[in-house]
Amino acid sequence: MRRAIFPGSFDPLTNGHLDIIRRSAPLFDEMIVAVLNNPDKAPMFTAEERCEMIREALPSVDTARCKMIVESFSGLTAEFARAKHATAIVRGIRAVADYEYELRMALMNRRLEPTIETVFLMAGEEYSYVSSTLMKQVFELGGRVDGLIPELVEERMRAKISA
Ligand code: PNS
Repeated sequence: MRRAIFPGSFDPLTNGHLDIIRRSAPLFDEMIVAVLNNPDKAPMFTAEERCEMIREALPSVDTARCKMIVESFSGLTAEFARAKHATAIVRGIRAVADYEYELRMALMNRRLEPTIETVFLMAGEEYSYVSSTLMKQVFELGGRVDGLIPELVEERMRAKISA
């Protein structure tokens, strides 16, 4: 049984995240999309709202025969992966700029849990500039983000902003 976790803030989920899920699913039997619940940050969406949006968006993605689970977590990613008996941590790399940060995280996670490997996947080039932060910024300033985030996420962002 090959189980992986795909950790992240997912504030909010983007089509880049879904692209990484689609690409990584055939490599594993089970994948836990692990949403970080970090009370220090002031996220746009609560961890539960982020989990809900991911669960709703997942059926739009071909996840092969991989069982998909969405959960929030607090604390260390490596510790969460160990507790879930995962053997891999999936991370997406968009451009060279991501590499240094991702390398540091992967090495630290390996030091914390030497049996868990980080697996990097390259996002599709059409998502190479897509980040949750950029999507929120552009959306809040009235710019178009269609095609870059799922429609249901765009609707929730609209509702959140008008609330
Ligand atoms: O989507 P993000 O914000 O790039 O995801 C970053 C995340 C959640 C993977 C990273 O911040 C993380 O692992 N946080 C949990 C705390 C932790 O384990 N820190 C040490 C990482 S080496």
